Amino acid sequence: MRILVTGVNRGLGFELIQLGLEKGHTMIGTWLKTRDGIDSLQALQAQYPDRLMLVEMDVTSEESVKAASELVRQRYDSIDCVVNNAGILLESKYNLEDPIINLDIGMFRKTLEVNTIGPAIVLKYFMPFVYRSCDPCVINITSEAGHLKTGLFTYLAYGVSKHGANMYTQKIRNFLASRPEYEHIRIFMMHPGRMNTVMGAENKQIEPSESANGIYDIIEKRVDPKLDIPFINYKGEQMPY
Ligand SMILES: NC(=O)c1ccc[n+]([C@@H]2O[C@H](COP(=O)([O-])OP(=O)(O)OC[C@H]3O[C@@H](n4cnc5c(N)ncnc54)[C@H](OP(=O)(O)O)[C@@H]3O)[C@@H](O)[C@H]2O)c1
Repeated sequence: MRILVTGVNRGLGFELIQLGLEKGHTMIGTWLKTRDGIDSLQALQAQYPDRLMLVEMDVTSEESVKAASELVRQRYDSIDCVVNNAGILLESKYNLEDPIINLDIGMFRKTLEVNTIGPAIVLKYFMPFVYRSCDPCVINITSEAGHLKTGLFTYLAYGVSKHGANMYTQKIRNFLASRPEYEHIRIFMMHPGRMNTVMGAENKQIEPSESANGIYDIIEKRVDPKLDIPFINYKGEQMPY
Protein backbone atom coordinates (compact mmCIF):
# COMPACT_ATOMS: atom_id res chain seq x y z
CA MET A 1 0.00 0.00 0.00
CA ARG A 2 0.97 3.64 -0.37
CA ILE A 3 0.50 5.49 2.92
CA LEU A 4 0.93 9.15 3.86
CA VAL A 5 1.56 10.11 7.50
CA THR A 6 1.87 13.68 8.81
CA GLY A 7 4.27 14.74 11.57
CA VAL A 8 6.79 11.91 11.19
CA ASN A 9 10.02 13.18 12.75
CA ARG A 10 9.18 11.74 16.18
CA GLY A 11 6.58 10.00 18.31
CA LEU A 12 3.79 7.98 16.72
CA GLY A 13 4.43 9.44 13.26
CA PHE A 14 7.99 8.13 13.21
CA GLU A 15 6.87 4.68 14.43
CA LEU A 16 4.23 4.51 11.68
CA ILE A 17 6.79 5.37 9.00
CA GLN A 18 9.38 2.90 10.31
CA LEU A 19 6.92 0.02 10.75
CA GLY A 20 5.26 0.71 7.40
CA LEU A 21 8.63 0.47 5.65
CA GLU A 22 9.46 -2.76 7.49
CA LYS A 23 6.12 -4.17 6.33
CA GLY A 24 6.91 -3.36 2.70
CA HIS A 25 4.61 -0.37 2.21
CA THR A 26 5.55 2.73 0.26
CA MET A 27 5.56 5.61 2.72
CA ILE A 28 5.17 9.36 2.30
CA GLY A 29 6.17 11.15 5.48
CA THR A 30 5.54 14.84 6.00
CA TRP A 31 7.37 16.91 8.56
CA LEU A 32 8.39 20.39 9.68
CA LYS A 33 11.91 20.17 8.35
CA THR A 34 13.69 22.35 10.91
CA ARG A 35 12.88 20.32 14.03
CA ASP A 36 14.00 17.18 15.93
CA GLY A 37 14.49 13.74 14.45
CA ILE A 38 16.29 14.64 11.25
CA ASP A 39 19.02 12.02 11.76
CA SER A 40 16.57 9.16 12.29
CA LEU A 41 14.55 10.13 9.23
CA GLN A 42 17.62 10.46 7.05
CA ALA A 43 18.79 7.03 8.21
CA LEU A 44 15.45 5.55 7.15
CA GLN A 45 15.65 7.32 3.81
CA ALA A 46 19.12 5.88 3.20
CA GLN A 47 17.82 2.40 4.05
CA TYR A 48 14.67 2.65 1.90
CA PRO A 49 15.48 5.16 -0.88
CA ASP A 50 12.75 3.87 -3.22
CA ARG A 51 9.95 3.46 -0.71
CA LEU A 52 10.24 6.54 1.49
CA MET A 53 9.38 10.01 0.25
CA LEU A 54 9.88 12.80 2.77
CA VAL A 55 8.09 16.08 2.14
CA GLU A 56 8.23 19.28 4.16
CA MET A 57 4.73 20.34 5.17
CA ASP A 58 3.23 22.57 7.84
CA VAL A 59 -0.31 21.30 8.29
CA THR A 60 -1.52 24.75 9.38
CA SER A 61 -0.52 26.38 6.09
CA GLU A 62 -2.70 25.87 3.03
CA GLU A 63 0.17 27.09 0.86
CA SER A 64 2.55 24.53 2.38
CA VAL A 65 0.08 21.64 2.09
CA LYS A 66 -0.76 22.56 -1.51
CA ALA A 67 2.94 22.70 -2.42
CA ALA A 68 3.52 19.33 -0.74
CA SER A 69 0.61 17.79 -2.66
CA GLU A 70 2.08 19.07 -5.93
CA LEU A 71 5.42 17.46 -5.10
CA VAL A 72 3.74 14.16 -4.25
CA ARG A 73 1.70 14.35 -7.48
CA GLN A 74 4.93 14.43 -9.49
CA ARG A 75 5.66 10.94 -8.17
CA TYR A 76 2.34 9.33 -7.28
CA ASP A 77 -1.20 9.40 -8.59
CA SER A 78 -2.98 7.76 -5.68
CA ILE A 79 -2.59 7.19 -1.94
CA ASP A 80 -4.27 4.25 -0.19
CA CYS A 81 -4.24 5.65 3.33
CA VAL A 82 -3.76 9.13 4.80
CA VAL A 83 -2.96 9.24 8.51
CA ASN A 84 -3.47 12.71 9.95
CA ASN A 85 -1.10 12.31 12.89
CA ALA A 86 0.53 15.74 13.43
CA GLY A 87 -0.69 17.35 16.62
CA ILE A 88 0.23 19.62 19.50
CA LEU A 89 -0.49 19.84 23.21
CA LEU A 90 0.53 23.21 24.62
CA GLU A 91 -1.09 23.02 28.06
CA SER A 92 0.09 21.61 31.34
CA LYS A 93 -2.10 18.98 32.95
CA TYR A 94 -1.45 20.45 36.37
CA ASN A 95 -2.35 24.08 35.65
CA LEU A 96 -4.96 24.79 38.31
CA GLU A 97 -5.61 28.41 37.40
CA ASP A 98 -9.12 29.38 36.31
CA PRO A 99 -9.10 28.26 32.65
CA ILE A 100 -11.80 30.72 31.69
CA ILE A 101 -10.39 34.04 32.79
CA ASN A 102 -6.76 33.00 32.33
CA LEU A 103 -7.21 31.49 28.88
CA ASP A 104 -4.22 32.10 26.63
CA ILE A 105 -6.02 32.95 23.39
CA GLY A 106 -2.90 32.57 21.25
CA MET A 107 -2.33 29.07 22.62
CA PHE A 108 -6.01 28.19 22.10
CA ARG A 109 -5.94 29.44 18.49
CA LYS A 110 -2.68 27.63 17.68
CA THR A 111 -4.00 24.37 19.14
CA LEU A 112 -7.12 24.57 16.99
CA GLU A 113 -5.07 25.46 13.92
CA VAL A 114 -2.86 22.38 14.18
CA ASN A 115 -5.25 19.79 15.64
CA THR A 116 -8.58 20.74 14.04
CA ILE A 117 -7.96 22.82 10.93
CA GLY A 118 -4.71 21.01 10.02
CA PRO A 119 -6.38 17.67 9.16
CA ALA A 120 -9.00 19.52 7.09
CA ILE A 121 -6.33 21.32 5.07
CA VAL A 122 -4.45 18.07 4.55
CA LEU A 123 -7.55 16.26 3.29
CA LYS A 124 -8.51 19.20 1.07
CA TYR A 125 -5.34 18.55 -0.95
CA PHE A 126 -4.74 14.83 -0.39
CA MET A 127 -8.28 13.42 -0.61
CA PRO A 128 -8.08 13.49 -4.44
CA PHE A 129 -5.21 10.96 -4.13
CA VAL A 130 -7.35 8.83 -1.81
CA TYR A 131 -10.27 8.99 -4.25
CA ARG A 132 -7.99 7.44 -6.89
CA SER A 133 -7.07 4.46 -4.64
CA CYS A 134 -8.70 1.04 -5.14
CA ASP A 135 -8.61 0.39 -1.37
CA PRO A 136 -8.88 3.79 0.33
CA CYS A 137 -8.63 4.66 4.00
CA VAL A 138 -8.32 7.81 6.15
CA ILE A 139 -7.30 7.80 9.81
CA ASN A 140 -7.53 11.03 11.73
CA ILE A 141 -5.56 10.63 14.95
CA THR A 142 -7.63 12.53 17.50
CA SER A 143 -7.75 11.59 21.19
CA GLU A 144 -9.86 10.31 24.04
CA ALA A 145 -9.70 13.98 25.06
CA GLY A 146 -12.12 14.65 22.20
CA HIS A 147 -15.21 13.21 23.84
CA LEU A 148 -17.66 14.87 26.19
CA LYS A 149 -17.47 13.76 29.79
CA THR A 150 -18.01 15.17 33.25
CA GLY A 151 -15.43 15.88 35.89
CA LEU A 152 -12.49 16.99 33.75
CA PHE A 153 -11.12 20.39 32.97
CA THR A 154 -7.55 19.48 32.09
CA TYR A 155 -6.25 20.24 28.60
CA LEU A 156 -9.05 22.66 27.71
CA ALA A 157 -7.75 23.84 24.32
CA TYR A 158 -6.51 20.37 23.39
CA GLY A 159 -9.86 18.77 24.30
CA VAL A 160 -11.81 21.32 22.28
CA SER A 161 -9.46 20.87 19.31
CA LYS A 162 -9.75 17.07 19.33
CA HIS A 163 -13.52 17.20 19.78
CA GLY A 164 -13.58 19.49 16.74
CA ALA A 165 -11.41 17.02 14.82
CA ASN A 166 -13.83 14.24 15.74
CA MET A 167 -16.78 16.31 14.56
CA TYR A 168 -14.96 17.15 11.32
CA THR A 169 -14.30 13.43 10.78
CA GLN A 170 -17.92 12.49 11.44
CA LYS A 171 -19.16 15.19 9.07
CA ILE A 172 -16.96 14.03 6.20
CA ARG A 173 -17.73 10.39 7.04
CA ASN A 174 -21.44 11.21 6.67
CA PHE A 175 -20.73 12.92 3.35
CA LEU A 176 -18.71 9.96 2.04
CA ALA A 177 -21.34 7.47 3.22
CA SER A 178 -24.01 9.41 1.33
CA ARG A 179 -22.25 9.08 -2.03
CA PRO A 180 -22.30 5.70 -3.80
CA GLU A 181 -18.95 6.44 -5.42
CA TYR A 182 -17.30 7.12 -2.03
CA GLU A 183 -19.15 4.87 0.43
CA HIS A 184 -16.39 2.22 0.24
CA ILE A 185 -13.83 4.65 1.73
CA ARG A 186 -12.91 3.58 5.27
CA ILE A 187 -12.55 6.55 7.61
CA PHE A 188 -11.78 6.61 11.32
CA MET A 189 -11.14 9.06 14.14
CA MET A 190 -8.75 7.37 16.51
CA HIS A 191 -7.45 7.57 20.06
CA PRO A 192 -3.93 6.14 19.69
CA GLY A 193 -3.51 5.30 23.38
CA ARG A 194 -1.61 7.20 26.08
CA MET A 195 1.81 6.88 24.53
CA ASN A 196 5.32 7.40 25.80
CA THR A 197 6.19 10.29 23.47
CA VAL A 198 7.23 13.90 23.95
CA MET A 199 3.55 14.78 24.08
CA GLY A 200 2.27 11.89 26.14
CA ALA A 201 5.07 11.04 28.56
CA GLU A 202 3.31 12.40 31.67
CA ASN A 203 0.30 10.07 31.14
CA LYS A 204 2.05 7.19 29.39
CA GLN A 205 0.55 3.68 29.37
CA ILE A 206 2.02 2.21 26.17
CA GLU A 207 4.94 2.68 23.79
CA PRO A 208 4.09 4.30 20.44
CA SER A 209 5.25 1.10 18.71
CA GLU A 210 2.28 -0.77 20.26
CA SER A 211 -0.09 1.87 18.94
CA ALA A 212 1.54 1.73 15.49
CA ASN A 213 1.12 -2.07 15.38
CA GLY A 214 -2.59 -1.71 16.18
CA ILE A 215 -2.99 0.99 13.55
CA TYR A 216 -1.49 -1.31 10.90
CA ASP A 217 -3.94 -4.06 11.89
CA ILE A 218 -6.65 -1.55 10.94
CA ILE A 219 -4.95 -0.21 7.81
CA GLU A 220 -4.27 -3.77 6.58
CA LYS A 221 -7.82 -4.85 7.55
CA ARG A 222 -6.95 -7.59 10.04
CA VAL A 223 -9.22 -5.44 12.20
CA ASP A 224 -11.97 -3.68 10.24
CA PRO A 225 -14.53 -1.92 12.45
CA LYS A 226 -17.82 -1.03 10.74
CA LEU A 227 -19.32 1.71 12.88
CA ASP A 228 -21.75 4.55 12.29
CA ILE A 229 -19.59 6.73 14.54
CA PRO A 230 -16.09 5.42 13.77
CA PHE A 231 -14.35 6.81 16.86
CA ILE A 232 -12.03 3.95 17.83
CA ASN A 233 -8.90 3.23 19.81
CA TYR A 234 -5.74 1.76 18.29
CA LYS A 235 -7.14 -1.75 18.83
CA GLY A 236 -10.18 -0.91 16.72
CA GLU A 237 -12.55 -0.82 19.69
CA GLN A 238 -15.35 1.76 19.80
CA MET A 239 -14.49 4.80 21.93
CA PRO A 240 -17.21 6.49 23.97
CA TYR A 241 -18.25 9.78 22.43
N1 LIG B 1 0.99 10.82 23.14
C1 LIG B 1 -0.23 10.53 23.58
O1 LIG B 1 -0.40 9.98 24.67
C2 LIG B 1 -1.43 10.87 22.74
C3 LIG B 1 -2.71 10.60 23.25
C4 LIG B 1 -3.81 10.88 22.49
C5 LIG B 1 -3.65 11.41 21.23
N2 LIG B 1 -2.39 11.69 20.74
C6 LIG B 1 -2.28 12.24 19.39
O2 LIG B 1 -1.42 11.40 18.62
C7 LIG B 1 -0.74 12.19 17.63
C8 LIG B 1 0.76 11.93 17.72
O3 LIG B 1 1.17 12.32 19.02
P1 LIG B 1 2.65 12.08 19.59
O4 LIG B 1 2.48 11.67 20.98
O5 LIG B 1 3.44 11.27 18.64
O6 LIG B 1 3.15 13.60 19.59
P2 LIG B 1 4.62 14.24 19.44
O7 LIG B 1 5.67 13.28 19.83
O8 LIG B 1 4.52 15.53 20.14
O9 LIG B 1 4.71 14.46 17.86
C9 LIG B 1 3.84 15.35 17.22
C10 LIG B 1 4.27 15.50 15.78
O10 LIG B 1 3.42 16.47 15.15
C11 LIG B 1 4.28 17.39 14.46
N3 LIG B 1 3.66 18.71 14.26
C12 LIG B 1 3.29 19.61 15.20
N4 LIG B 1 2.81 20.72 14.61
C13 LIG B 1 2.88 20.51 13.27
C14 LIG B 1 2.54 21.27 12.13
N5 LIG B 1 2.02 22.51 12.23
N6 LIG B 1 2.73 20.73 10.89
C15 LIG B 1 3.25 19.50 10.77
N7 LIG B 1 3.63 18.73 11.79
C16 LIG B 1 3.42 19.23 13.04
C17 LIG B 1 5.51 17.49 15.34
O11 LIG B 1 6.58 18.08 14.63
P3 LIG B 1 7.76 18.88 15.44
O12 LIG B 1 8.57 17.83 16.14
O13 LIG B 1 8.49 19.55 14.34
O14 LIG B 1 7.07 19.81 16.39
C18 LIG B 1 5.72 16.01 15.64
O15 LIG B 1 6.34 15.36 14.55
C19 LIG B 1 -1.15 13.63 17.89
O16 LIG B 1 -2.19 14.00 17.02
C20 LIG B 1 -1.64 13.60 19.32
O17 LIG B 1 -2.54 14.64 19.61
C21 LIG B 1 -1.29 11.43 21.47
